[in-house]
Amino acid sequence: APPLLSVQEIVRSDTENVPERYIRNPGNRPKSSDISLVPDKELPVIDFSLLAKGDEDERRKLDIINHGADEALPKIKTATRQFFDLPLSEKEKYAMPPDHFEGYGQEDKAEGHKRDWNDLLWLRTMPPHSRNTKYWPLAIPGFKESMEEYATEMQRVSYEILGNLSLLMGMERDFLKELHGEVKQGTRMNYYPACARPDLVFALSPHCDNTSLSLVLQEDNITALQVKHKGMWVPVKPIPNAMAVLLGDVMESWSNGKYKSLEHRAVANMEKPRISVVSFVIPSNEAELSPLKTMVDDDHPIIYKNGVKYIDYLLYKQTKEASEDKNV
Ligand code: SIN
Ligand code: FE2
Repeated sequence: APPLLSVQEIVRSDTENVPERYIRNPGNRPKSSDISLVPDKELPVIDFSLLAKGDEDERRKLDIINHGADEALPKIKTATRQFFDLPLSEKEKYAMPPDHFEGYGQEDKAEGHKRDWNDLLWLRTMPPHSRNTKYWPLAIPGFKESMEEYATEMQRVSYEILGNLSLLMGMERDFLKELHGEVKQGTRMNYYPACARPDLVFALSPHCDNTSLSLVLQEDNITALQVKHKGMWVPVKPIPNAMAVLLGDVMESWSNGKYKSLEHRAVANMEKPRISVVSFVIPSNEAELSPLKTMVDDDHPIIYKNGVKYIDYLLYKQTKEASEDKNV
């Protein structure tokens, strides 16, 4: 097997030097002024208790509070820390095989592309029959229960959000959920070690998610996630017990471009390691990404092709990304 890549191990043996494979080309680094961006504006916060009551104004916002998952969230953060605290030899038991995205390792980057300052554990979490428990660190006491509870809560929260987005798009509440076919959920647990040179690396390269929704649970006391808004990078300040709701490519297509797939990235932190946990809402391979009829009219001509299947979109995006230079 190829040697396992791990920034955590790199930092364990050398806290000062950043290996070449992680150093971005000079034109492609975070601007120094962007690394320590201090949140100066409050991002819109969805109060889930109002959303569930049908409050119109709550539907268009970014962070969610009062989601009712208050116990599941600290538990999954603890489980994440416990996993990355395991010795490498233990974590390797869950290693991602080549050309797979599930398991422990790093995101696959095309030859010649730079790597992110990030180690991850990616698991299929919903529906239950899709789980590959050989990648689940079941040796950690309580891991299974914490993940099951988190997965169930994220499913509930994401269905509520999809229901509200359906209503915003002039459809019945169940519409978008049904459009997914079998709704799949993936969970990505992230570990970002402290980095001596956050000006040279990305914790996470700028990207848009190929999901319908992504729910990001952050470390409470480190601002690292940034979203692109009107051409500027805006830091997403963590709100204890809240999650950031990011709309993905699938929602952009279904909404005929009205709801943009949110470009985001993460910067590394010089002092402290950071974890995050992301719940992805993913359509079935056969789901069609055609814009909803309610989102197309004379003023909003169709901009996304009808009839494209999700799996074909994924292949198209992979090919496109491999040829792009944003990861150099
Ligand atoms: C993070 O904020 O650490 C994760 C964001 C993402 O998965 O894109
Ligand atoms: Fe993302």
